[in-house]
Amino acid sequence: MKKLFKNVRLKGCSQPVDLYVENGVFKEIGPYLQVKCDDTVDLGGKLAVPPYVDAHLHLDYVYTARKEGARNDTGTLFEGIQRWSETKGDITVEEVKERAKKAIKQEVLQGVQFIRTHADVTDPKITGLKALLELREELKDYVTIQIVSFPQEGMYAYKGGDELVEEGLKMGADCVGGIPHYEFAREFGEKSVHKTVELALKHDKMIDVHCDETDDEQSRFLELLATLTYMEGIGEKTAASHTCAFGSYNNAYAFKLMKVLGLSKINFISCPTENIYLQGRFDTYPKRRGLTRVKEIIEAGMNICFGQDSIEDPWYPAGSGNLMIVLDHGIHIAQTMSFDDFENALDLITVNGAKTLNISDQYGIEEGKPASFITLNADNPVDAVLRRVGVLDSVRNGEFLFRRAPEVITTNLEFLK
Ligand code: FE2
Repeated sequence: MKKLFKNVRLKGCSQPVDLYVENGVFKEIGPYLQVKCDDTVDLGGKLAVPPYVDAHLHLDYVYTARKEGARNDTGTLFEGIQRWSETKGDITVEEVKERAKKAIKQEVLQGVQFIRTHADVTDPKITGLKALLELREELKDYVTIQIVSFPQEGMYAYKGGDELVEEGLKMGADCVGGIPHYEFAREFGEKSVHKTVELALKHDKMIDVHCDETDDEQSRFLELLATLTYMEGIGEKTAASHTCAFGSYNNAYAFKLMKVLGLSKINFISCPTENIYLQGRFDTYPKRRGLTRVKEIIEAGMNICFGQDSIEDPWYPAGSGNLMIVLDHGIHIAQTMSFDDFENALDLITVNGAKTLNISDQYGIEEGKPASFITLNADNPVDAVLRRVGVLDSVRNGEFLFRRAPEVITTNLEFLK
C-alpha cells in the first residue's frame, strides 16, 4: 500500500512537506513529492508531530473516584493509597478492562498512541495486571501499552510484597516498579530500590519507580536509584517518576546530586497536574508546588517528560487524558515559558516520553520509521502550545485512527468572523 500525506509542517522546516508512506513506513519526506500511490490526502498545512506519549498513567484505578468509600477528603497521596486499599477488594478483570478501555479511548482520541501504565500487584489475585495484560494485546493496533509491575502498598510493608512484584514480571509486565518513600522504614525503602534493580537485571526489564513522591526533603531514594543504575549501566532503561522531594532539597545537596543523575542518564517523569494537587498539603504558607526540578533537569540536558498519572481516581478527581492540558499546567508550574521553551515544549509529551519508554528507534517522523504521527490545529509548535490546540488527525502505521474537523463557529458579527 502506497500513500501520500501531503502538505504538513514539521518543526524547524521553513516550508510544508509531504510524507510518502509504503506499507506503513515513512519512505520519503520532502516538499512537493512526485510519487505514484494508491491514496493521497491533503492535511491542510497543519503541524505534524509524532504521537503523544503518556509516560505515566494508572489504568487500573481510572474512574474509581466516585466509588463508595473511595472519597479522599484530605487530598493527600497517603489518603489516596488508603482509600484504594480499602475499596480495591471487589475489582474484577472485566470491570478493570471496561474502565481502562474507556480511559484509553479518551487518550487515543486526543492523540496518544503510547502509554506506560502502572498495575498494582499488591493484590494476591493480581487482577489489575491480568486485565491490563489482556488490553495490551487486544488494543495494540490502536495504542502501544507498557506495563509496570507496581507495588502500590509497598514491597516490604507486609510479607510477600516483593514476590508479587516478581510474579508480575513473570506474567509479562515490561517494567519493575517500586514506591520506596511509602515503605515503613527508610532501610526498607532502600531495600526496595536494591530489589527493583536486582529484579530488572534478573528478568531483563526496564525500571520505573515512584520515587520520592513527597514534600519530605529527607526522602532521598533518587540518589540510590541513580547510583545503582549508573553502576549497572542501566540508567537509560530507568525512569524516576515524580521525584517531588527533589523540589524541596536544599540547593547544596541538589547540586551534589546532579552529578550522579547526569552520569546515570536516568529519565524523569513528572506529573504536573497530579502533584500540584497532591503535594503541599502539609504546608500552610508558603505552600510548595510539589514538582521536581523540571527546569533545572532540562537545562542540565537530562531527559524529562510529563504524564497524566490519574483519571478520576482516589488520588486525583479530574484528568481527561488530554496531554495538552498536562503540558500547559507543567510549563506554568515549572516556569519554563521562554519562547525557546515554547518551541520545544511539545517534546515533553512526545519525543522525551518516547526516550523514557525506550522506543525512540521506532518513533518519530523520519524515513524508515513506522508512519505514525498526529496533526495539530496550528502551523508551528509555539502557537500550538500557546493556544493549547487540539489534535485533528491521528495516523498509526500509515492508517488513520481518526480525523477531526476543525471547530466551526457560527456568527453574524463581522468582528468575530
Ligand atoms: Fe503514579
